Formats: sequence, structure tokens, C-alpha cells
Amino acid sequence: MKTTATFKAMKKNSEKIVMITSYDAPSARLVEEAGVDVILVGDSLGMVVLGYDSTIPVTLEDMIMHTKAVKRGAKNTFVVTDMPFLTYHSSLAETMTNARRLMQEAGAHAIKLEGNGAVIETIEQLTKAGVPVVAHLGLTPQLVGVMGGYRVQGKDAETAKQLIEDSKKVEEAGACMLVLECVPTQLANLIAKQLSIPVIGIGAGINTDGQVLVYHDLVGYGNGHVPKFVKQYANITPIIHDAVSSYVNEVKESRFPGQENTFTMKNEELDRLYG
Ligand code: KIV
Ligand code: NA
Repeated sequence: MKTTATFKAMKKNSEKIVMITSYDAPSARLVEEAGVDVILVGDSLGMVVLGYDSTIPVTLEDMIMHTKAVKRGAKNTFVVTDMPFLTYHSSLAETMTNARRLMQEAGAHAIKLEGNGAVIETIEQLTKAGVPVVAHLGLTPQLVGVMGGYRVQGKDAETAKQLIEDSKKVEEAGACMLVLECVPTQLANLIAKQLSIPVIGIGAGINTDGQVLVYHDLVGYGNGHVPKFVKQYANITPIIHDAVSSYVNEVKESRFPGQENTFTMKNEELDRLYG
């Protein structure tokens, strides 16, 4: 079982870290078998699984349920769970309770928090209490309402400088890893070089210590908008569509179920039945 120490060592040895999201047991089993290093139970599940149009409606209970499912599917992989919208802002006590539930009840090995400022102090408190924390900077989808949309972050010198400073601060606060979303590759490169903790990029170019993608985007499951930074390694949507269409047609035309899908009674039992 890999640990936060493994990931730091991987960075030191220039060994790339592979992270992917997962939200249920079968996908967790598949990604574990494929050899990913870290599973993220992302609040992106709000969009790709629950059908919301942002991560804002996702609750702590949602994250607990999906983390439990992932843990049942992947017993030997490090699991990080997102703390959802406004579950780590109102008080330290509530933040601690929510983090405790994600680790004790759901079984997360670490939790992930979005944002800078006061969140950085929260990272420090959680770390001191024994909670491994993954920080998330750059495009932080829980702030979509404030940002007014999803945009690449840190494109100009001022905001880039701020991101570099925030990255240093999350490391100082004790974060075990940093997810950097939608930033120019040159900036991600600078940040990854400056930190001793692994920087996992999404839409952050090739020079980070690892990459993360959303499972559904990678396998082409669903028909949402696919951002530029996604590479679709497969497109399973038409495969599922064709399978279900065939099922519909075969039932309508009385071609399913066939003999091979059917149970039968022995003739003598039929005779006894009819008397
Ligand atoms: O929720 C999520 O899937 C994430 C990744 C995109 C980093 O936070
Ligand atoms: Na997320």
C-alpha cells in the first residue's frame, strides 16, 4: 500500500504519480487493476454521476457513500476524498468532524480541500491533528459562483505570483500533495520545481509530478462537455448506447431471451404439474 511518504519519494526519484477519479466499486476495481497510484473520490461526482451542473450541490453524505463504494472496490490503493462545498469553512470544530467522518466512517486515507487564504490555516490544523491533506489550487470549481465561470488561472504575472506564493504556503502548512488545475504549463513547472511535495496536474502541462483525470472523461462515459486538457483514451458511450438499443429491439421483436438465457422444467415435472 502506497503512503504519503511513497509519493514524496516518487517525486524525489522523478517517478510520475498517476491519479484518477473513481466513484463506485466496479470502476475502483478497474483502476486499481490498471495500476493507478492514487484514487480521488472527487466532488466532480456531482456532475459525472449525480447529474448536477456543478460541484456546489454535493454533500458530505454523498462523499461518504461514494468513498465507501470505492473502498469496497479498491482495497489496496491510496484513496483521497474531496471535502465538498462549505464543509470546511464555518468552524474548525465542524471541519474536524467532517474530516473525521470521511476518514473513520468512509475510509479515506487523505482529504482534499480547495482554495487559499483561510483554507491554508485549516490545512495546518488538520495536518497537526493527523489528517493527511491534499491542497487544490488554480481553478477551484467550488468557487465557480465567485469566479463567474471556469477559466485558466495564473496567466498573467500577478496571478501567477499569487499562485506560487499560495503553493509555498500550502506546503508549509503541511499539505502532503498539491493538485494544480488549469494553469499554464510554465507556471506549473515552476511550482512543481519549488515544492518538495508532489504536484499533481490537471490541465497543467507535462512537467508536474503526476497527472489526474476524471474517470468518465478518460473513458468517454457520458456526453458532457470535454475540456481541452482531457484525453479520451476510449469512447464507451456509443458502445453502451448500441448495447442498450439492441436490447430494446430484441425485446420488442421477441428475440430476447434466447434458449441459452432460459430455464426449463423436466417433462415429468410438467406432467405432474398438469396432472
Ligand atoms: O473533483 C475532481 O474530480 C477533482 C479533480 C478534477 C482534481 O477535484
Ligand atoms: Na474536486
